[in-house]
Amino acid sequence: MSDPSSSSDLRPDLDESINVKDAHGALRGDLAAGREKTVRENGMEAVSLWLVLISAIVVLAAGAVMGQGGSFFGYSELVKEGYMRTPSPVPQDAPKLPIAALSLFQKEGKKVYGACVACHQNSGLGQTGQFPPLAGSEWVLGNTEALSMIIHNGVAGKIEVAGTQYNGNMSAFGANLNAKELAALMTYIRTSWGNDASIVSPSMAANALEISKKRGGSQTSAEELKKSHDKMLPGDILPPDTMLDPETWEPIATEK
Ligand code: HEC
Repeated sequence: MSDPSSSSDLRPDLDESINVKDAHGALRGDLAAGREKTVRENGMEAVSLWLVLISAIVVLAAGAVMGQGGSFFGYSELVKEGYMRTPSPVPQDAPKLPIAALSLFQKEGKKVYGACVACHQNSGLGQTGQFPPLAGSEWVLGNTEALSMIIHNGVAGKIEVAGTQYNGNMSAFGANLNAKELAALMTYIRTSWGNDASIVSPSMAANALEISKKRGGSQTSAEELKKSHDKMLPGDILPPDTMLDPETWEPIATEK
């Protein structure tokens, strides 16, 4: 029998010399031909089943990795389950925490000192030849009555500060200051820039305002200060670590 796959045998057999059954069997292909990869009409080879399976595994694994590790599709980053806003540590209407007298006066006094910064500077060193220093000044560290008179009434004329002569003019800062502000300001300058003098209580500052009222409104001078005000202000002594209510500045009883 001739080779059934030879092309001549696939032509129409007009003489009917071929066994039709054999020929059809050949067209269906023998077993060996069936195992060959089928070539599609469009010329593309069918994809191997293994390649499909391996690709599927890769895609699944990649999906699992992204789903687990990445926040790509996860809401967990944005939506925290059972999230509750943390309540503010201090209830709105609760009294503010007590503060040590020295800390409170330094904090508040620094604000009042804003009126003095232009001349005496943030450093408390003043300006050479023009504005005397407050750091290391005997007028600041010394007797509080004299200091309060300088601030409340201003000072003019010759004055020696830390070994240097000045002959300037400082206007009064008294009109706007109440006892608390004056106490805080004096405490601030007496305890800043290395100054280490006692704190001035609001009760002492209130007395300073009284004394100042009695002497009339003019600027004071070194001479007058030495003669009439070279003493400590009367009034309640406030230990620097006394705990105060930051609103009322009244001492708060602390349990021992
Ligand atoms: C416009 C500039 C100016 C401002 C602002 C000013 N001072 Fe003075 N201060 C002077 C001058 C100038 C003198 C020296 C006056 C003199 O020579 O008699 C002086 C002197 C003093 C003294 C005595 C000398 C010394 O250095 O210790 C003290 C204390 C003082 N000032 C504190 C203050 C405080 C506190 C404030 C803010 C409330 C203030 N001054 C604001 C210019 C100023």
